[in-house]
Amino acid sequence: MSSENRTFAPTEIRVELMHSLNAADLNDLCDAAEAAIRDGGGFGWVEPPEHDVLEAYWRGVILIADRHLLVGRLDGVIAGSCQILIPARNNEAQSFACNLTTNFVAPWARGHGLSAKLIEAAEEHARDSGFQVLNLDVRETQIAAIRVYESLGYVRFGSHPLYARVGGQDVAGYFYYKTLDQTPIQPGAPL
Ligand SMILES: CC(C)(COP(=O)(O)OP(=O)(O)OC[C@H]1O[C@@H](n2cnc3c(N)ncnc32)[C@H](O)[C@@H]1OP(=O)(O)O)[C@@H](O)C(=O)NCCC(=O)NCCS
Repeated sequence: MSSENRTFAPTEIRVELMHSLNAADLNDLCDAAEAAIRDGGGFGWVEPPEHDVLEAYWRGVILIADRHLLVGRLDGVIAGSCQILIPARNNEAQSFACNLTTNFVAPWARGHGLSAKLIEAAEEHARDSGFQVLNLDVRETQIAAIRVYESLGYVRFGSHPLYARVGGQDVAGYFYYKTLDQTPIQPGAPL
C-alpha cells in the first residue's frame, strides 16, 4: 500500500463578501497576498511590503465604504481575493459602472478555478448593488488573468503602452468592460 496521504473529499471553494476580518483570516489574506506579490502578480505591489503594512492595508480596505472585499477560500483557508471599487458620489455620469480590482490567487491555490468563482461572485454583488457595467484593467504580461477575464466575457476596449513600470521596465496594459445584464451596449444608447 502507498504511504502517500490519500484525499477523499474534493477541494472545496467558497467565496465570501467580507465586512470584517478576524485575526486568522487577516493573517491568511496577508500570506496569500505576499505569495502573489512574490510571484509577480501583486495588484500594484512589485515587492512585498512588511507584514504590518499589508495588515494595515487590508484593515483599511474593510474600513473604506467605496471598497467591497471578496475573498476566496480553498478548503477554508483564504487563498485569494478581489475588490469592487464603486464610483465616488459626485461621479453621477459613471454611477452605473464599478471597477473590479486587486484580483489575485496565491500560487499554491491556482488551477482550481478559484479566480472565476471570485469574479462571478463580484459580478453578482455588483449587479445586486445596482451596477450595470464592470470595468477592469490588467498588465499585458498577466496572461493567466487575461485568459480568465476573456473566458468570462470581458471585452477589451483599449490598451495603454505605459500602464505600469516593473523593475525599471515599462509594461503595457489592457482595459476591459463587461455589461452585467448581458445586453450588448449600443454606443450612444442610454443604459
Ligand atoms: C490570474 C489568476 C487570478 C488565476 O487564478 P486561478 O484561480 O488559478 O485561475 P484558474 O484556476 O482558472 O487557472 C487559470 C490558468 O492557470 C493555469 N494554472 C494551473 N495551475 C497553475 C499554477 N500552479 N500556477 C499558475 N497557473 C496555473 C490553469 O491551468 C489555467 O490555465 P487555462 O487558462 O489554460 O485553463 C492567478 O493566476 C493570479 O493570481 N495571477 C497573478 C495575479 C494577476 O494576474 N491578477 C490579475 C491582475 S488584474
